[in-house]
Amino acid sequence: MTHELLAKTFDQWSADGRASAMELEHGDVARQVIAKLGIRAGEQILDLGCGNGWATRILAKMAAGVQATGVDVAPAMVAEAEKIHSLTIRARYHVGSFEQLDFPDARFHRVFSMEALYYAVDLERALSEIARVLRPGGSCEIVIDFYTDSVATSCWAKATGVPMHALSEAQWKARFERSGFVDVATTRVVDSRGPGEASRFTPSHCYPDFSTWVAVRSAGSLWIHASKPKNAS
Ligand SMILES: C[S@@+](CC[C@H](N)C(=O)[O-])C[C@H]1O[C@@H](n2cnc3c(N)ncnc32)[C@H](O)[C@@H]1O
Repeated sequence: MTHELLAKTFDQWSADGRASAMELEHGDVARQVIAKLGIRAGEQILDLGCGNGWATRILAKMAAGVQATGVDVAPAMVAEAEKIHSLTIRARYHVGSFEQLDFPDARFHRVFSMEALYYAVDLERALSEIARVLRPGGSCEIVIDFYTDSVATSCWAKATGVPMHALSEAQWKARFERSGFVDVATTRVVDSRGPGEASRFTPSHCYPDFSTWVAVRSAGSLWIHASKPKNAS
């Protein structure tokens, strides 16, 4: 799977209106995580796999002078982000890949990513790029719904049609540790809205029936926190 094919797939998601649907689906969990980060004034934050940039804009508004930058491989997603963008928010968006981040070393205080990192073409390279662009002591918050302990998501790889890293909670932790991150911790975050009523459920590729939807919601999202060592160069 090349970045071109990923871009084509997610450009189509954008054309199908799925970027704003994702905000609705992921927004509650993302807001829970972001609220706990203690973002301070003036921080520089990178949002990886930003889609239409909804989380980038939330991050940018967390404290005075915060600058948030979204990166996404799909040009249509970035175009959507720029269209929605407001000049009063310190956020900007770039087309780019996890594996080759077009930023200088130690540029960011934090990296955030919602439902995206498992699409990395080269996960080891992506983790090394995250570490490179983080300042020493900077932190990384990765939130994903697709992980093997959430058994009902196992059908997603087929449904999306693009390769996805199917790793367990323990394997994700190990991958970050192996890439030199410290203070690696995982936790589950459950959507505060619950699964809702079966009568209002609409089947989709990733949620073919209501029981799959309930199982995914019950397992919760996996939040991986990791830091770049303070003494790293
Ligand atoms: C499931 S969407 C999530 C978007 C957004 N974070 C959200 O929660 O609504 C995954 C996003 O990651 C982007 N993406 C996937 N692989 C990527 C890669 N290797 N480099 C950069 N972006 C990538 C896709 O284009 C897509 O917009």
